[in-house]
Amino acid sequence: MNQVKFSHFFRVVLAVGLTSGCLAVQAQAVDLAAAEALLLTNKCAKCHSVDKKKDGPAYKATATKYKGKADAEAKLFAHLTTAPTIEIDGIKEEHQKIKAKDDAAVKNLIKYILSR
Ligand code: HEC
Repeated sequence: MNQVKFSHFFRVVLAVGLTSGCLAVQAQAVDLAAAEALLLTNKCAKCHSVDKKKDGPAYKATATKYKGKADAEAKLFAHLTTAPTIEIDGIKEEHQKIKAKDDAAVKNLIKYILSR
């Protein structure tokens, strides 16, 4: 194989590899910036952090709780959109209903939480 042919072959292999790699990542990618912005505008950090328990569980603890559960996304979607009753220091209150532009934004946040 001469030099020109070899480098062409190499470039094609590289291009195919990169393209399929990107597609694989894209299929399940979480939009981190959008998820974090949604947490911020909803002030979820008042009661939650990624790795420390506050009034509410750490997102990492939630990710562990739902690991391998097929209904994880559905459960958390209901949790965030239907204001279930929660208890903080023995006092019952409604969990905050998330304000987001659409369901997809809420689902992106759920993917973010489940991947902590
Ligand atoms: C006033 C405090 C408070 C605020 C504000 C709050 N949460 Fe919570 N959250 C809690 C408490 C307490 C629990 C635990 C409920 C339980 O286990 O019964 C909880 C539970 C959760 C869970 C776990 C649910 C489960 O099924 O295990 C998630 C996820 C969550 N909150 C996300 C959020 C998000 C996102 C926001 C912002 C939109 C938010 N929370 C705002 C207090 C809060």
